[in-house]
Amino acid sequence: MLHRPRRLRQHRSIREMVAETRLHPSDFIAPLFAMEGKNTREEIASMPGYYRYSLDLLAKEVQELWQLGCRSALLFVKVSDDLKDNEGKEALNPDGLMQRVIRKVKAVAPEMCLMTDVALDPYSEFGHDGIVEDGQVLNDETIGVLVDMAISHAQAGADFVAPSDMMDGRIGAIRIGLDTAGFTNTGIMAYSAKYASCFYGPFRDALDSAPVDVPDVPKDKKTYQMNPANGKEALREAGLDIEEGADILMIKPAVAYLDIIHNIKKTSTVPVSAYHVSGEYAMIKAAAAQGWLNEKEAVVEVLTSIKRAGADLIATYFVKDILKLLKI
Ligand code: PBG
Repeated sequence: MLHRPRRLRQHRSIREMVAETRLHPSDFIAPLFAMEGKNTREEIASMPGYYRYSLDLLAKEVQELWQLGCRSALLFVKVSDDLKDNEGKEALNPDGLMQRVIRKVKAVAPEMCLMTDVALDPYSEFGHDGIVEDGQVLNDETIGVLVDMAISHAQAGADFVAPSDMMDGRIGAIRIGLDTAGFTNTGIMAYSAKYASCFYGPFRDALDSAPVDVPDVPKDKKTYQMNPANGKEALREAGLDIEEGADILMIKPAVAYLDIIHNIKKTSTVPVSAYHVSGEYAMIKAAAAQGWLNEKEAVVEVLTSIKRAGADLIATYFVKDILKLLKI
């Protein structure tokens, strides 16, 4: 036999030498959940081992992440019900939870690349990413709030804003808004291909942000998030976001959408990131808890697959696990 591919798999050193994909600490973005309070953290029921932190403990968590080699965090906040409305007014409060979290994290880890979620859902009384009227999620009216929200995050010190709302035209509007306000160096990581996915379930538990079941409010996000049946449409969305000034594109979820990551990476002129979302975390945790699969091996295999598909960056709730494994 002239060809024996197994020669390159004989032992670990050879296998590692010829590995086509390698994970590195700077590949990862740590999603973080903040809440009000002092010295407390709450485990998210559907995300065992993952927590919401009060500001002081979140700062400690960020320091630990930095020590482990993590260089980027993506911030989310849990807003109390009395601060929620239809227009997301609280999202613009200069002393709102998100704005305080940004300042605090920047103070303890000034070199950490801070990214912030821009969408109305944690602030929306209806659990939608935009303003709701007559059973519709309004596009252009929502964009106005998103632009102000992005500016408010930039003012507080965010390095990147990450619009996750899927309204049409918001990347261009946010870019112009940031530039006009003097934030020409604040980047945009656009959730370009965000699918209407059941895998966000545990995240909505974490932030108490699921669409509410009341008349005249859409029950799901299918009029703005993408149909899982579509692949070409993701290329269209990605192209529009690049034209509108996005610095990084995001695909979400990750594992069920590896083809989308691959195809966007092939054509994108900007870095591509993938969000390994809450439900993808929960699935591995649940199976591992049953003893049905080896958690560490699953984490390495899944994250490697996401990178192999074409993701330059990966947001994952397994960030500490993988950073610890990479240290060994
Ligand atoms: C909200 C937002 C969601 C996620 C990130 N930003 C949920 C949603 O669209 O309902 C999901 C993240 C995850 O599941 O880990 N704009």
